[in-house]
Amino acid sequence: MINTKQGNSVELLKGLESNSIDLIITDPPYKTTKRGNSGGTGGMLKEDNFIKGNGGFANNDVKFSEWLPLCYNALRDGGHFYVMTNNKCLKEMLNELEKAKFNVFKTLIWAKDNCITNMYYMDSHEYIIFAYKGKANKINNCGTRSVLNIPNCKNKLHPSEKPIELMKILIENSSKENDVVLDPFMGSGSTGVACLKSNRKFVGFEIDENYYKIATDRFNSEKGEEKRKEKDFTQNSLFGDGM
Ligand SMILES: C[S@@+](CC[C@H](N)C(=O)[O-])C[C@H]1O[C@@H](n2cnc3c(N)ncnc32)[C@H](O)[C@@H]1O
Repeated sequence: MINTKQGNSVELLKGLESNSIDLIITDPPYKTTKRGNSGGTGGMLKEDNFIKGNGGFANNDVKFSEWLPLCYNALRDGGHFYVMTNNKCLKEMLNELEKAKFNVFKTLIWAKDNCITNMYYMDSHEYIIFAYKGKANKINNCGTRSVLNIPNCKNKLHPSEKPIELMKILIENSSKENDVVLDPFMGSGSTGVACLKSNRKFVGFEIDENYYKIATDRFNSEKGEEKRKEKDFTQNSLFGDGM
């Protein structure tokens, strides 16, 4: 089941019932520089160098403090919360998570196969802060390492598109089949596609009309793919195996 809405998540999150979501995974808008996620070349981190209104970052000015408490309210007690961030925003995100009453387990690393040039080491990773509400619960596969080596997406539908393989690891470690997973900043819908592949219910919000349509098209195509697989399976079970 996919339940999505186009609009401002600060408003849409207020419509969710308290404790109604089993897991939240999100890659929210945050400050970026013209050179990429963390900048790093002379002066690129100045506020007026932050990208506004283009390149997929038209809406990157929502404050963490505006939506984190709303996520906390929607998440069930014991539910896990994953939020992606960059070097520039890590400290602020950790502070705001604490203010919103989340407990932080640890910060995971997504190690990519590409990198962004930088005078102070080239950036080839992103942070995923792993937090929870209330009671601490373990993940499903305790053998998962905190550094996740997953290749970046090729031919991206969104400048910040995340690999389905990465999202599936987080989803399958922190929820069970038919659980409800929320992504309030879904972009091109990677979390939702991973939910469809992992048999989880998905609730997603996106403010940008173009990305909302891209995400919806991806969900429809993934649902079509699943139906085709089901049909093949039924046909093979009925007529296969030497019959
Ligand atoms: C970093 S991107 C997410 C990309 C996503 N992980 C993917 O795989 O495509 C963040 C998204 O949040 C959206 N956004 C920004 N402000 C928003 C708001 N107030 N409400 C809902 N969506 C918002 C942006 O349009 C952008 O697509």
